Amino acid sequence: MKRALITGITGQDGAYLSKLLIDKGYKVFGTVRRSTSEKFVNLKYLNVYNKIKFYDFDLLELSNIQNVIKETKPHEIYNLAAQSFVPTSFQVPIVTTDINSLGTLRILDSINSINKKIKFYQASTSEMFGKVAQIPQSENTPFYPRSPYGVSKIFSHWITINYRESYNIHASSGILFNHESPLRGSEFVTKKITSTLTRIKYGSKETLRVGNINAKRDWGFAGDYVYAMWLMLQKKNPDDFVISTGKTHSVRQFIDLTLSYLKFDYKWVGKGMNERVVNKEDGKTIMKIDKEFFRPAEVDLLIGNPSKAKRQLKWKPKTSLKQLVKLMVDYDENQIKNA
Ligand code: NAP
Ligand code: GDD
Repeated sequence: MKRALITGITGQDGAYLSKLLIDKGYKVFGTVRRSTSEKFVNLKYLNVYNKIKFYDFDLLELSNIQNVIKETKPHEIYNLAAQSFVPTSFQVPIVTTDINSLGTLRILDSINSINKKIKFYQASTSEMFGKVAQIPQSENTPFYPRSPYGVSKIFSHWITINYRESYNIHASSGILFNHESPLRGSEFVTKKITSTLTRIKYGSKETLRVGNINAKRDWGFAGDYVYAMWLMLQKKNPDDFVISTGKTHSVRQFIDLTLSYLKFDYKWVGKGMNERVVNKEDGKTIMKIDKEFFRPAEVDLLIGNPSKAKRQLKWKPKTSLKQLVKLMVDYDENQIKNA
């Protein structure tokens, strides 16, 4: 039986990857940071919670990482743990760097000293392209990060390549573009939009407050993307791959798609910071712009070129943005109905 160790198993990708690996017959070990609140909602939702063995773990603690690797003896390690929210990285840049950059190095160095045969997956990101040097972005596009998060992930990306080249470790980086799902953290823009607008549709009096609605992202479905992670570790040789849909949409378009799916009768009014969405049925403002949600430096446009992954991994995205919005809103509606 193959054994996989997943760091960050309580997050969005951790849940979908656990499900995929358990369905493939893996024994899955998951790492969890101690907390006083419930962390296993995602894993319980996908019915995998009882099939996983959990370990207390923090990417900040080298001896803890080494002990978990020695105990679980994994064939594959998927390093999904990170301080993953870009705005928080401006608030706590040093902690973000310690977790995201040095955390990755701590795992790689542990693999190197404990068992070089362990295969390693690093969760790299399109945030590394930042102020993009090319459109679309591929594995060869130069990086120009725009946040401490982006900078920290470039270190982890390159240290993964360095350990692969220096010590012959099967270490791969997936440069994943934004991927979303019903299990997406509530502070990320897609989930914030679908959950808030759904609550408003069901009678909540709140207003959706967002920042830069002109930012464009290449959004895919997390369930499709974790399959690419697994494919990378099954390849004979380790490598780096862009995983994306090849299509880009603005936050504004995502709001439109959600409003349409929820069958709002609405209109956009105003300009710039005063732009808002009004519900034509009762004249109330459903969405407005709030400067609180703008960032010190923005990534304006992301669009990935997934041809290498299509060619070499035989991977392609299966879920359109419209289907993704439906998945997310349907889940949000069920949450309200079952509350
Ligand atoms: P997520 O939902 O934010 O999950 C992050 C996970 O990391 C959580 O389980 C979190 O645990 C854990 N974690 C945070 N700090 C830790 C620490 N010091 N020690 C151990 N665990 C820690 O992220 P995601 O969306 O699933 O993304 C997975 C990975 O892919 C991340 O590395 C992210 O940066 C990267 N990525 C994501 C996307 C995307 O669009 N989703 C795109 C490209 C790359 P707690 O529950 O304790 O906080
Ligand atoms: N979160 C948030 N909240 N973002 C907003 C808002 C808002 O109210 N209003 C506008 N945005 C814009 C942001 O400025 C950004 O341009 C875009 O929406 C997407 O923001 P997020 O959903 O927070 O994602 P992200 O692109 O910053 O980062 C995500 O994707 C990266 C891959 O490119 C995260 O998952 C990262 O961990 C991941 O690496």
